[in-house]
Amino acid sequence: MSDTTRDQPARGVYLHTFGCQMNVYDANRILERLAEDGYHRVETPEEAELVLLNTCSVREKAEQKLLSSLGRLALLKQARPELLVAVSGCVAQQERERLLKKAKVVDLVFGPDAVPRVRELVRRSREEKGKIVDARFTEPSKYAFPRAMPAAGAEQGVTAFVTIQKGCDKVCTYCIVPFTRGREVSRPREEILEEARAFLATGVRELTLIGQNVNCYHGGSTFAELLRAVAELPGLARLRYTTSYPGEMGDDVFAAHRDLPVLCRHLHLPVQSGSDRILELMRREHSAAEYREKVARLRALVPGIAITTDILVGFPGESDEDFEATMALIEELRFDNLYSFVYSERPGTWTARNGASLGEVPQAVKVERLERVQARQREISLEKTSAFVGQTLEILVEGPSRKDPAVRAGHASEGWTVHFPGTEAEAPVGSFARVRIDSASHFGLRGELVSVASEPDRGPGS
Ligand code: 5AD
Ligand code: SF4
Repeated sequence: MSDTTRDQPARGVYLHTFGCQMNVYDANRILERLAEDGYHRVETPEEAELVLLNTCSVREKAEQKLLSSLGRLALLKQARPELLVAVSGCVAQQERERLLKKAKVVDLVFGPDAVPRVRELVRRSREEKGKIVDARFTEPSKYAFPRAMPAAGAEQGVTAFVTIQKGCDKVCTYCIVPFTRGREVSRPREEILEEARAFLATGVRELTLIGQNVNCYHGGSTFAELLRAVAELPGLARLRYTTSYPGEMGDDVFAAHRDLPVLCRHLHLPVQSGSDRILELMRREHSAAEYREKVARLRALVPGIAITTDILVGFPGESDEDFEATMALIEELRFDNLYSFVYSERPGTWTARNGASLGEVPQAVKVERLERVQARQREISLEKTSAFVGQTLEILVEGPSRKDPAVRAGHASEGWTVHFPGTEAEAPVGSFARVRIDSASHFGLRGELVSVASEPDRGPGS
C-alpha cells in the first residue's frame, strides 16, 4: 500500500446532479477536489460515506425531486448514522439554513460559489458532526474559478465543458438564476485557454464553452475573439458554446460561425415567447422581429446551421393571442429542436410578486399549450431529421450506446444524436465516423458506418 493510500482511506461518494451544464461542470470540479482526500465515486448511496445532491432550482419540480430524494436518504441514515448528506447547487444557495429545517437528514449545505472550498467543508462536516451552511457569494472581483484537473481522474470522455463565465446580470423577470448564481463574472481568457489545453492533452476532441449568457463575455477579449483563440488550439476538432442571449448575439459571433470550421453547425438561442407583449413583461430586451432577423442572418451566412430554442408557456398574463404568436414563430422559424417549459413561479423574482396582478394562467391551459408546442415541434424535428436520410454525416464517436453495446453513439455537428452498428475496433471512441443515414426519428438518426478517420473531414483544400 502506498503512503498516499494509507494517508487517505478510500471513501465512497455518491453524487447526483440535477439541472444544467453549469451544474454538470461544478459536479466534476467537486469530484476532482474530493479525490484529493481519497473520495472515489460510487454508483449507489448504499455504498457511500458521503451522498451529495447537486441541485437545480430553475423550476419548482426540480426542487420537489430533491425533497423526495432526501426522504429516501433519511431512511438510509437511520440505518447508518455516520452517513454524511450534503446538498450543493442552486437549491442550496436559495434555501440555505431553511434546508436544514425542511430535511433533518442534511448535514452540509453549500452554494455554487463554495465549490472551491468543498474539501474543507466536507472535512469539517465529518469531524465536527455539526450542521454546516456555506452560501456566501464571493465578491465578483475576488472570484476565482475552480480549475478543472482533467488528468486527476474525473470521468473523462471525448467531450468536455469549459466554464467561461459565472452568474448572470440579466433581469429576466421569471428567472431565479441571478439569485442562485450571483453577479456575472467572466473568467480570464488565459485561464480558459489553459484549461482547454489541459482537456485536449487528455484526448478530449470537442469542447463546449459554457456560461449563462456567453455573448456578454469580457474576460480580456470579446466572446467572438475568444472563440477564435480557442479554435486555434492544436488537437481541437469541434467547438460548441451555450447559452446565448439573443439581444447580445452580434455580427462578430455570426462571422465566427462563417469562418471557423471547428465551430459546430448549431446554435442554441432561447427565445421564450413569440409575443412582444410577453417578451417585454419578461424583460428580454429583444422583440420577436429582432429574433427572427438574427436567425435569418445566421442561416444566410451558414446554410444548414441547426437552430434550437427554449420556449416558456403560461407566463402570467399570456393570452390565447400571445400564445398563438409563439406558435406562429415556431411555424415560421422551424427550429431544429426546442426545449419547452411550463412557467413555474420562483421565489424572489419580479413575476412572483406581480404574477397575480398580470393574471395567472390556469394549470390546465399551461399544460395544453405545452402539449401543442411539443406536438408541433415533434413534427418539424422529424421533417428536419428525415431530410438527412440517404446522406452521409460525420459523427464524433462518443462510445457504445447505453442500450446496446453493439451499437455506437455520437453526435453530428448539428447536434443530432446518431447511432450505428459497430464495435470499438471499427469506430473507436474519439474517432470521426462517416455514417450513411437510413432512418430518422424526431430526436435522432440511425445509419450504417461508411468509413472512419482520426480527424474530421474539412472538405476539399483542407
Ligand atoms: N419557469 C419555467 N421555466 C423557466 N426557465 C427559466 N426560468 C423558468 C421558470 N421560472 C426556462 C427558460 C430557460 C430555461 C433554461 O429554463 O426557458 O431558457
Ligand atoms: Fe438550474 Fe439555473 Fe442553477 Fe443551472 S443555473 S442548476 S438551470 S437554477
